[in-house]
Amino acid sequence: MTAISDRSKVVIALPLAQSLVDQLAAYDLTVLPAGRSEEGVFEAALAEAEGLLVSSNVIVDREVIAWAPKLQVISTMSVGLDHIDLEAAREKKIVVTITPVLSDAVADLTMALMIMLSRRICEGIRAVVSGRWSEVSLGSDLAGKCLLLVGFGRIGQAVARRAVAAKMHVQYVDTRSGLPVVDHVERVGDLAKGLPDADFVSLHVDLNAETRNLMGREEFKLMKSTGFLVNTSRGGVVDQAALTSALTEGTIAGAGLDVLQDEPPHPDEPLLNAPNIIIVPHIGSATRETRSAMAQCAVDNLLMGLRNERGPFEVT
Ligand code: DGY
Repeated sequence: MTAISDRSKVVIALPLAQSLVDQLAAYDLTVLPAGRSEEGVFEAALAEAEGLLVSSNVIVDREVIAWAPKLQVISTMSVGLDHIDLEAAREKKIVVTITPVLSDAVADLTMALMIMLSRRICEGIRAVVSGRWSEVSLGSDLAGKCLLLVGFGRIGQAVARRAVAAKMHVQYVDTRSGLPVVDHVERVGDLAKGLPDADFVSLHVDLNAETRNLMGREEFKLMKSTGFLVNTSRGGVVDQAALTSALTEGTIAGAGLDVLQDEPPHPDEPLLNAPNIIIVPHIGSATRETRSAMAQCAVDNLLMGLRNERGPFEVT
């Protein structure tokens, strides 16, 4: 006869180092490294679960939340929350927590994309490989250029500090009040006011109903034809068809993306072949140090939620 455990049940739906799994040893663990990939497995595991650990590629929608009537805490190893139905979680009084310990890693990648675009680094690499060493056109400096940050949370601020050090003029738009004052960084009233002056536009907002397709045809038309777009937030913030046209028609000069609407993209996605585009595979937080800090933070958040303790990274 199988003994029924009286320990609280926890579902781990992401790959986790054994040392972190060990920190949860007091709980009855179900480890599902593939998330909800196998039909029915996730549902069955959630039936008794009080805690759930996920990453941003595990969808926790209203249906999933309904599978877990005892759930107290959803700890996501991400800062983005668009994979979780927050309203459904709030209705059930489920605590949702995030791991905002990736700002430096994402800010570094944002700067890297800006430098790759402005210094034509991909063209340089291709020129060397194809024996055209001397044929690369001139790029442009970051110093003296205007960077518009769309969103001025932790990551936007981390980019601002780097951009100020690179002698850029930094502006931001954000609808929130009470944001910190950062030296040499200026707030502008709204997106339409900031776009015409920007040499670089970098997106640092959550994906939600207000920000979906925030950068569309009209916004690209407001940008300089020499302007670059960088997106390390979520793919859905950019209207991909509009971006493809803006690049193809020369409305803007180039784009550097870490995120796409569909990840991985369909092989026929037209944006993949647009001119002057750099796309990397959602690697904003992908450093050993940052991923390990995120995993530890997610486990700590989960433990606090299971013990009914208030943690610093709760969003519901
Ligand atoms: C985040 O934490 O939201 C990163 O984009 C990784 O998903």
